[in-house]
Amino acid sequence: MNEEKRAGVGACVFDAYGTLIDFNSAVETLRDRLGEPADRVNALWRRKQLEYTWLRSLMGRHADFWQVTGEALDYALAAAGIRDEGVADELMGLYRALPAYPDAAPALEALRAAGMRTAILSNGAPEMLQSAAGSAGLTPLLDAVFSVEAVRIFKPHPSVYQLAADAFDLPPHAISFMSANGWDIAGAGSYGFRTVWVNRAGAPVERLPFAPSTTVGSLAELPALLGL
Ligand code: LAC
Repeated sequence: MNEEKRAGVGACVFDAYGTLIDFNSAVETLRDRLGEPADRVNALWRRKQLEYTWLRSLMGRHADFWQVTGEALDYALAAAGIRDEGVADELMGLYRALPAYPDAAPALEALRAAGMRTAILSNGAPEMLQSAAGSAGLTPLLDAVFSVEAVRIFKPHPSVYQLAADAFDLPPHAISFMSANGWDIAGAGSYGFRTVWVNRAGAPVERLPFAPSTTVGSLAELPALLGL
């Protein structure tokens, strides 16, 4: 690895859902059954899932990400007027076994080949993350999988990001954190990580403090960014 560019980065830590793992594939698989509101269900499911994590954290009423994901799905289906009893169970089953984005494994392989430590740091409950990393084929490419369940509060609380710094025994600025979620990048930057925003959707930058250190369009750009 190019020592100059790598300088000071001791570990690469990744968000899971939306960054390494493609949660859109659950609704995509059942698109015909969901019918016309499929895209609205998908977007609202994700929006409510995130809102509920932030609201529960503010309320001091933690529940794990599996429960929150199910409750968000119930809301999204109700909002779309979908009363198909089995569809929620099927979507949750699909959420347990999501695929990786095509750029995820090659990027992790390149990092590992260069001796970089890699990890997931996610809101996901431990069983969800083990299952998703397995179905996505990423388990052998990761040194660690960190779940917020260790601190029972969701991102972007600083104690979540600290899990990775503590586990790797690195100062925050020695960790490069990759996320497709702009708000997660702001939280990680506020904690002290170097950040790489994987702006898959071409979204505008969040109007929050701690803009990304670097922005890429896909994880394929990551190895070059680190001088591999
Ligand atoms: C995660 C969510 C935020 O994996 O995508 O933590």
